[in-house]
Amino acid sequence: MRPVDLPPVWMAPMAGEAASAALVAAVSAAGGFGQLGAAYLAPARIAEVAADIRARTDRPFGINLFCPQPSRRDDAAMDAYLARLAPWHAELGLPAPARPERCEEDFEAQLAATVAARPAVVSFVMGDPGAARVAALKAQGFTVVGTATHVSEGLQLQASGVDAVVAQGYEAGGHRGGFLSSSEGALIGTMALVPQLVDALDIPVIAAGGIGDARGVAAAQALGASAVAVGTAFLLVDECPLSPAYRAALLAARDADSTLTRAFSGRLARGVANRVTRALDGVALPDFPQPNAASRPLRQAAAKAGQADLLSLWAGQALPLNRAPGTAAQLVAALQQGWRA
Ligand SMILES: Cc1cc2nc3c(=O)[nH]c(=O)nc-3n(C[C@H](O)[C@H](O)[C@H](O)COP(=O)(O)O)c2cc1C
Repeated sequence: MRPVDLPPVWMAPMAGEAASAALVAAVSAAGGFGQLGAAYLAPARIAEVAADIRARTDRPFGINLFCPQPSRRDDAAMDAYLARLAPWHAELGLPAPARPERCEEDFEAQLAATVAARPAVVSFVMGDPGAARVAALKAQGFTVVGTATHVSEGLQLQASGVDAVVAQGYEAGGHRGGFLSSSEGALIGTMALVPQLVDALDIPVIAAGGIGDARGVAAAQALGASAVAVGTAFLLVDECPLSPAYRAALLAARDADSTLTRAFSGRLARGVANRVTRALDGVALPDFPQPNAASRPLRQAAAKAGQADLLSLWAGQALPLNRAPGTAAQLVAALQQGWRA
């Protein structure tokens, strides 16, 4: 059983450069399920991007938000982090790094904009949206999806009433989406995680992490998943507006270049290792999302300057499987080959 009969191939939500109306719409128009990673978008921008998706396709799509994070402000830790960034700022000709005035968007306002945009699915990551919020969304006709990195998180999300749970395995690109036991959840591989969640839950499980081609889709279905959510492979499709430096780094990376790092955001995330991840390996950092905001000027300037060694290069372990996916429609079709009706 799939949530509200959505297609089996989902594009995983990806906040940042991949949060593109053209990309989400192309996936949905091709018979996949496109999702907008809206976590970094201001509420007004969520409305604009959702309207743009609608103008491009009448197929259903989803919107994803980060649950609010209990982050502790620590000025000394932030100043130490800024001091680490300073030489890279100098290298790029940027002013010295400064404490960010604001670290994240207003979650309630983002949620209100999401509701107003009427996506088919509202999904959450890095937390449990809670029974009251889930019930309110379901009463308004939304399908609500949560993200789990281990069984206890899946059980909690199910108890909160979500319609389906994304099982995010260790292989997945981007930030770890868990919330229990540690701020980032657990580090369980997709192959082990999906069947354990399928056995433990009464609701559909969507497999995410390390699925890069039809073989991964077939494997996820064999493990009992009701759908797959593929992120990294969609970063390289024609419609994805990645900066040339990011794209080139992804094309050059090999399997062993993948790493888990807190360097850019304070929260564990998977990407291609570079100068920044190596320099900050093991260094204590302020809580997410504070470093994420503080490192934004560096990341933006590095992208402009074509310096991938100073850029967050979020991508999963299956990255080298799919270097030339073509258009979003071609990738959706290739992935669908692995799903047996
Ligand atoms: C660039 C990038 C950004 C991401 N942003 C989000 C996000 O905003 N919300 C979310 O739930 N997951 C996010 N993720 C994780 C994906 O939704 C998904 O779990 C992951 O991409 C699946 O693994 P794969 O990359 O191996 O396909 C992101 C992943 C990447 C690569």
